[in-house]
Amino acid sequence: MLLLALESSCDETAAAVVRDGKEILSNLISSQIDVHAAYGGVVPELASRRHLEVINPLVDDALQRAGVEKNQLDGVVVTRGPGLIGALLVGLSFAKAFAYAQQIPVIGVHHIEGHILAIQLEKQVEYPFLALAVSGGHTHLFRVDGIGQYRLLGRTVDDAAGEAFDKVAKMLGLGYPGGPIIDKLAQESDDGDIVFPRPLLKKDNYDFSFSGMKTAVLNYLNKLDAEPDKEQLGQISSAFQTATVDVLTKKALRAAEAEGLTRIVVAGGVACNSGLRKRFAELAETERLDVFFPSPILCADNAAMLAVAGHHYLQQGHRSNLDLNAVSSWPL
Ligand code: KG4
Ligand code: ZN
Repeated sequence: MLLLALESSCDETAAAVVRDGKEILSNLISSQIDVHAAYGGVVPELASRRHLEVINPLVDDALQRAGVEKNQLDGVVVTRGPGLIGALLVGLSFAKAFAYAQQIPVIGVHHIEGHILAIQLEKQVEYPFLALAVSGGHTHLFRVDGIGQYRLLGRTVDDAAGEAFDKVAKMLGLGYPGGPIIDKLAQESDDGDIVFPRPLLKKDNYDFSFSGMKTAVLNYLNKLDAEPDKEQLGQISSAFQTATVDVLTKKALRAAEAEGLTRIVVAGGVACNSGLRKRFAELAETERLDVFFPSPILCADNAAMLAVAGHHYLQQGHRSNLDLNAVSSWPL
């Protein structure tokens, strides 16, 4: 089954062609960083407009690189939500029009479901597993028993981990998106004597809170006599990353243990973080766990990740109708 996959939930327009829900023939991502960087964050209306401009040529390019003609496709899978409503509507409307014109089925899937299953494009991870979905909009822990079988164990009660990285970077005047910049500075520095709090770590649940951590960084900055110099920026970044990684890994480990799970899949843009990858690799050794990270291109927003669920659902006979609408807020 040959699927065209489309993703436009936030600030990346992405198109992919995937065979049988596992073989990536093309996977293109058109980033909008240049559009939003000056504002220090995503401007929803600008995001929608850019999606609209690039989606047609991007799909043509994805088909061409895959060596696939439109009439060879068996279906279209698209992110239905959650995300920015205007941005989602561009991908969704395109997907429905394309499917209608080609007379093939269309299926809308959940963005986080896409992130969680992306790993299956590279490795066959057996179910059940624990999924830690960490992105700019989400920080969730799920027990995954199969495609479509997700039980939420914990989530952030305020900001997402990626959002905290971005906001802290903005406070430090480092630019957007903040995650990769903080990651790079953290790799080149140690924490100095800075220790940021680990919110909710002692609470007997699997929820996270990152807003307090952000405030702790702000309080630290306010106490400095002058603007932080290069060394201090490195140490603040490093200490913030250490605290974030500590909370994410400890809560994930606790949840895995309570659920009797030995496999952990880490997904979403923050799964690119080198500190998180390193700490989980250490824990995999000491705790005898199998921890899986997709390649960076499959961690960040992309369209190929949607094809795993899309293929499964279409094969089972599920179809979305042409009145399928986007949903900005949608629990998995
Ligand atoms: O999954 P994603 O591409 O989009 C959403 O669904 O949100 O995740 C984007 C988020 C951003 O907040 C970005 O700063 C963060 O992932 N991110 C990172 C790294 N690379 C991207 N955070 C920490 N370290 C990184 N290396
Ligand atoms: Zn995402």
